[in-house]
Amino acid sequence: MSRLIIVSNRLPVSLDATEDGSYSLRQNVGGLATALGPYHKAHRDCLWVGWSGISPHQCSQEDLQDIQQAYKDRRCLPIFLSQEEIDGYYDGFSNNTLWPLFHDFSHEAQFNPDDWDMYQTVNRRFAQALEPIINKDDTIWIQDYHLMLLPQMLRKRFPEVSIGWFLHIPFPSEEIFRSLPWSREILEGVLSANLLGFHTTDFVSSFIASVGRIFPESSVNQDGLIEMPDGHHAAVDAFPIGIDYNLYARTSRSGLAQDMRRGIEFSAGKSKSHFHSFMSAEGDAAAEAASQEGSWWSHHHLEDQPELDLSRSATASINQKENKIIVSVDRLDYTKGLPERLKAFGLMLEKYPEWTGHVTYYLLATPSREDVASYRELKAQVDELVGRINGRFSLLAWTPIHYITRSLSIKPVCGIYAAGDVALVTPLRDGMNLVAKEYLACHDGREGSLVLSNMCGAADELTDAFIVNPYDIDMVCEALHKALEISPQEACARNVRMQARLKVRTAANWSQTFLETLRQVTTAGMSEK
Ligand code: G6P
Repeated sequence: MSRLIIVSNRLPVSLDATEDGSYSLRQNVGGLATALGPYHKAHRDCLWVGWSGISPHQCSQEDLQDIQQAYKDRRCLPIFLSQEEIDGYYDGFSNNTLWPLFHDFSHEAQFNPDDWDMYQTVNRRFAQALEPIINKDDTIWIQDYHLMLLPQMLRKRFPEVSIGWFLHIPFPSEEIFRSLPWSREILEGVLSANLLGFHTTDFVSSFIASVGRIFPESSVNQDGLIEMPDGHHAAVDAFPIGIDYNLYARTSRSGLAQDMRRGIEFSAGKSKSHFHSFMSAEGDAAAEAASQEGSWWSHHHLEDQPELDLSRSATASINQKENKIIVSVDRLDYTKGLPERLKAFGLMLEKYPEWTGHVTYYLLATPSREDVASYRELKAQVDELVGRINGRFSLLAWTPIHYITRSLSIKPVCGIYAAGDVALVTPLRDGMNLVAKEYLACHDGREGSLVLSNMCGAADELTDAFIVNPYDIDMVCEALHKALEISPQEACARNVRMQARLKVRTAANWSQTFLETLRQVTTAGMSEK
């Protein structure tokens, strides 16, 4: 088979500045790194090209050489971008234009011609870095929305080379896509690939509709083969990405993940201790008081609140409800629906006061793209909502939401997943959403319920989850309540059905299927010439 060159904005390893001023490389745990990492590791001739993540001005010439060598040892070719390039290409056009537009957040999208110029410049920088290393029988697999012009740039230099491109985020409706002033150029960019992959058939349909509208002289046959007016063919299809199921199932059983799980269970009062009974008693008193207050988000001032005597716990009857844990793991991104989700959790505490003191929500929200204003605003909004819910419902020995805004590695993340009786995964829009799949793998063969948004690709596959409209706060609240109450037998039966699929449709299976299809369409294209 030909050599594979993977190209993505981020490399599978990140550079960390250490305290002594040197740098170290860390394996990324993002979806792409875990999906393609094993292939990259297993094939000694596979090369990965991507942005180094730092600006060359941040380090000395000597450091730069060491960094390049360290990447080379891992068969990665880093591309160094200046701060101006990062601002225009990454923060600007990728994350302030394409990202919101493709996730149906048109109102957040900025159409800045300078950012568009920089996007073209950086795509060209990638092309220039690749040109000297490409052989004509190589396969180039370009990833995601950051590099949509690259297929065309490479095609001009290498008419015969096999090029695949995969979009890891949604493709928007034709009307939304058309609002992009450079929609024609973007389509021309990707259509130079031999195969274009999306997560769902809906995204494929939207893409084909956009091509038909912007290039009325193009045609598409029933196998999803698009023929452009210049005679170039591009195949389009859905390839839903999976996870490395065994990795997550195994890691969730590791010592560190189990320690994390036990720690969470203890702090949520699930472990048998006097803490548990104190919490239960106090919970009954507070639940009663909480149920007498109106809608929790309408109360802004402490003086509006009825007096809550926490010392009443001693006289309250013991609520026998079993303590439960809700978990979620996200990048702090406005597409993930964190404010809506928090409101649904708050509403549940209000509507079902019996949960007071008995359900704890572990919310891991890792800050992301902090140089983009909308992300900073979201963080402030989530901080405030968490504060309001905790302030409104907390007891002396119980805090409803444990809010963690750090980046954790895979073992503690698996510990969080494993501890969750329920995972609350409610993005407003998402290409796939791997968190839902990772949670299920960490509950291999056992109970644990998934409340899942109908707005992500994963909902097409995980039909045994509690599927919700993430904008419908009441619906999410009710589903959450049901998911917490479900019997372990039913939860387990639902999981086993979904897990059976995830064990087969793995990340490795995704890359194999895509690459095999790419080989076939490239070969078919050549034999036609
Ligand atoms: C999404 C994109 C990826 C991206 C990831 C994290 O999943 O599809 O390409 O790497 O978000 O975003 P970041 O901007 O930190 O790379």
